[in-house]
Amino acid sequence: MSYRINSFEEYKSEYQKSIDDPAEFWAGIAENFLWQKKWDTTLEWEFETPKVEWFKGGKLNITENCLDRHLEKRGNKLALIWEPNDPKERFVRLTYRELHEEVCKYANVLKKHGAKKGDRIALYMPMIPDLAIAVMACARIGAVHTVVFAGFSASALADRINDCQCKMVLTADGLYRGTKEIPVKAVVNEALKECTSVETVIVSERTQWNVKMEEGRDFWLHQEVETVDKNCPAEPMDAEDMLFILYTSGSTGKPKGVVHTCGGYMVYAGYSFANVFQYDESDIYWCTADIGWITGHTYILYGPLLNGATTLMFEGVPTYPGPGRFWQVIDKHGVNQFYTAPTAIRALMACGEDHVLSYGLYSLKVLGSVGEPINQEAWEWYHIHVGKEKSPIVDTWWQTETGGIMISGLGGLSPMNPTHAGYPLPGIQPVLLDQEGKEITENGVEGYLAIKHPWPSILRTTYGDHERCKNTYFNTYKGYYFTGDGAKRDENGMYRIIGRVDDVINVSGHRFGTAEIENAINSLDEIVSESAVVGYPHDIKGQAIYAYVITNKPVETPDKIRAEIIEAVVGEIGKIAKPEKIQFVSGLPKTRSGKIMRRILRKIAEGDTSSLGDTSTLLDPDVVDEIKEGAL
Ligand code: PRX
Repeated sequence: MSYRINSFEEYKSEYQKSIDDPAEFWAGIAENFLWQKKWDTTLEWEFETPKVEWFKGGKLNITENCLDRHLEKRGNKLALIWEPNDPKERFVRLTYRELHEEVCKYANVLKKHGAKKGDRIALYMPMIPDLAIAVMACARIGAVHTVVFAGFSASALADRINDCQCKMVLTADGLYRGTKEIPVKAVVNEALKECTSVETVIVSERTQWNVKMEEGRDFWLHQEVETVDKNCPAEPMDAEDMLFILYTSGSTGKPKGVVHTCGGYMVYAGYSFANVFQYDESDIYWCTADIGWITGHTYILYGPLLNGATTLMFEGVPTYPGPGRFWQVIDKHGVNQFYTAPTAIRALMACGEDHVLSYGLYSLKVLGSVGEPINQEAWEWYHIHVGKEKSPIVDTWWQTETGGIMISGLGGLSPMNPTHAGYPLPGIQPVLLDQEGKEITENGVEGYLAIKHPWPSILRTTYGDHERCKNTYFNTYKGYYFTGDGAKRDENGMYRIIGRVDDVINVSGHRFGTAEIENAINSLDEIVSESAVVGYPHDIKGQAIYAYVITNKPVETPDKIRAEIIEAVVGEIGKIAKPEKIQFVSGLPKTRSGKIMRRILRKIAEGDTSSLGDTSTLLDPDVVDEIKEGAL
């Protein structure tokens, strides 16, 4: 691709161009893609409403860019390698031609069942090739995909389906993840009791379990594809038509549906992938995320396929059947770029070095990290034992809302500094703001991280509630997109992300809002009268969840009540949101206006009770001593 940057000098000059004239810069990058009709206006924007439009008037289909346009030169090149949960099971390889055909067939199945452009379709699936195919099939016909991580509960799935009124659900019989077996279809059946918008469910076969199929609503994919044509024209989409919705947690309320659109997302996904990972034509690239998260959307599927890359998709977990699994897969398939999360690295670090030292890992060229700050120790372990001190590490900072990587080194080109994400990608204009929202321009400072100019894959809205989008991201600091993160900028201008400054907890790289967990706990209204949740540092997960709970009767069986609380959270959200610690308290530290002082609760959860600050303004200062004494 002619947008590949090849030296740090070139990065600097491209960055300058992207700042001097962002529209012209991105128009140049967008020329590298296939447009059915060229755009009329490259960029129109203001951050007040907010309204951002890239490549307005342009027509495209992202799947033509991911698949069709590669057929001539790369038809027989591998597009997808699928590595199953159990290493003894056969892996699957699909060439670009095969993937194209599978996507067209699945797209025709969707059409046969009445799906059309603009319809929302929920995907609740294991990490199997059908998931990748299903995502592309939606995009092929212009339906809006909303992938829900298949670890969320039936209730969380139902909330998402209802929020965007999905017409269809694409799923599978069951799922293997490490030693776990999850009855995926049964979860869907449960969720659909609460959803009236869903007319059709398409089910992939993965586990061959006997599942309950509802006649007239549920259909087996393998039977359906037998009846359809293998050609499916790509639906012409406006650049600003919706491509997908992905739900993510914020400080308040229920998770919101972040909306990404076709043109800008495509351009940024393709551009950022090629440059951050320095992908070369014959490389094998592996991102270990789940497609249920934004990392999987942009850097397992769209980014790599837009560049004609070979992308590896893994069904399992890092520690199954043993802690050497990642390294075994890298050697087995000759992986060149490997992209994972600090939490996985820390979990493997805790298993000792032997499992990694017994693999060659000669193929590796670039290592990536994503999802949370990577601590020095984990960075070094990754660098020394996995990268053998020769593969550069790219610490990639970004968010569901940003669509693609924002601040990161470009593999092997940029200077590295452990725990620092580094410099912004071309087109990205980060700033640090002080309490008043004023830009701090010098280096060697710390502040709130915001972005002052739109990039092509910035979120366009939160589904069905534009006010919420405005309030969450554009109202805190007028004229800026606010990230919710705090950051430092060192003397060399490199950024180091500190973490969230709002009420979002990052557990193993997954986002949860404190309010969402509190609501789940408070739903036990027979037992619980109030709760407050905070994050605290955890060796492996980065952060874990600490819940302070006021019960409405004396706690006689604490373990039983704790189990009920956990069950409520697992039921409302999913196992990934389980509180690690639950402390029963008689009150919470509140200001006179009734606001919970989370700062104090965070300090106590961290075990740092020496510097709680001024507690005299609290409604009931004594409660702090009680909480301190009972801390877990
Ligand atoms: O706090 C930042 C953290 O993850 C948040 C975004 O979470 P999510 O939308 O789920 O997307 C995760 C994957 C892109 C950010 O606000 N975060 C993500 N990457 C990093 C990070 N924190 C520090 N360093 C990173 N590399």
